[in-house]
Amino acid sequence: MNILITGCAGYIGSIAADLFLSKGHQVVGVDNFLTGYKKPIEVLKKKYGDKFTFYNADLKEDLSPIFEKESVIDVVVHYAASCVVDESMTNPHKYFQNNPDSELNLVETMTKYGIKKIVVSSTCAVYGEAKYVPIDESHPTNPNNVYGESKLMGENIVRWYGRLKGLNYIIFRYFNVSGASEDGVFGYSKNPSTHLTENAVRSALGIAPFFLTYQKVDTADGSPIRDYVNVLDLNEAHIKAAEYLIGGGKSEIINLGTGDGSSVLEIVGKVKELTGKEFDVKQADKSREGESAKLVALIDKAKTVLGWQPKRTVADSVKTLLVWYKNNPNGWEE
Ligand SMILES: NC(=O)c1ccc[n+]([C@@H]2O[C@H](COP(=O)([O-])OP(=O)(O)OC[C@H]3O[C@@H](n4cnc5c(N)ncnc54)[C@H](O)[C@@H]3O)[C@@H](O)[C@H]2O)c1
Repeated sequence: MNILITGCAGYIGSIAADLFLSKGHQVVGVDNFLTGYKKPIEVLKKKYGDKFTFYNADLKEDLSPIFEKESVIDVVVHYAASCVVDESMTNPHKYFQNNPDSELNLVETMTKYGIKKIVVSSTCAVYGEAKYVPIDESHPTNPNNVYGESKLMGENIVRWYGRLKGLNYIIFRYFNVSGASEDGVFGYSKNPSTHLTENAVRSALGIAPFFLTYQKVDTADGSPIRDYVNVLDLNEAHIKAAEYLIGGGKSEIINLGTGDGSSVLEIVGKVKELTGKEFDVKQADKSREGESAKLVALIDKAKTVLGWQPKRTVADSVKTLLVWYKNNPNGWEE
């Protein structure tokens, strides 16, 4: 397949590019390095040569030159977005501008060039407070932060282009993504990090102190329960989605999680157990507000529509993170 990947200098997109390329597909990458890094692009170029082409471009700007040159794209896989919840609440303008505008310009340009298939990253943040768990795709959408709202706007743009312009799409609503690539070469690099498993592994390795940021919620141990899906499992679903769309599959919105939840304290305990390292667990000065007690996905639809099922556990994610952070204590930063 010829795949255009947006956001391929970022965490999930760089691992996706590596995965698609390793399966023999041709990849065109696009990123403006807003939160992405040059190093994964260099690694991909070195590893895959001319199977991988990269454009440094902002998705909100004129994308015609890229689509003129890359006329044989089968499917666009769209990861690029601003995606830090706390930041979205202090800088709503950035999120309302970057996320929907990028998506709108991307699908408009795709339509202009007759490219009709897209796989889109969305998030369980579109659901807001869970009315029931596990959450299926028909759960009401009522985001409780600007990030989730901006992603829902993006979903709606894609849905309308589906209805009016014949765009065929899979919108994936991810739950909590974790882990690095299987060989630990590509991983998560944001600092400060908002990813629990990543932070716990960093602390186990003595790279950074660990802080709890939640407020007490109504669960057995008082800490929020989330559904942690491995980044490779997640990206394998994107390959299946691209194949599904090429095979004429119809548009769908699909959850990606594991169907199983772990509490914050359970994850911390698991990382300690797996690494054999005791690290201090401190309370952060400021806790996150408005966190849901339990967000766990129902993943039956991913199974029935795509034949996708997660294969990896939290322990598998921790194993890859140990390699990634041992080799790159500061992520992609020097
Ligand atoms: N990480 C998670 O746990 C998680 C959970 C749910 C959904 N998602 C979604 O997955 C996607 C990828 O997230 P990530 O964790 O890899 O984030 P990331 O910040 O590491 O990667 C996003 C990439 O998009 C690029 N980008 C942003 N705006 C752009 C623009 N206007 N033009 C070109 N490039 C642009 C950034 O430079 C970056 O490389 C996002 O759409 C996010 O909403 C992530």
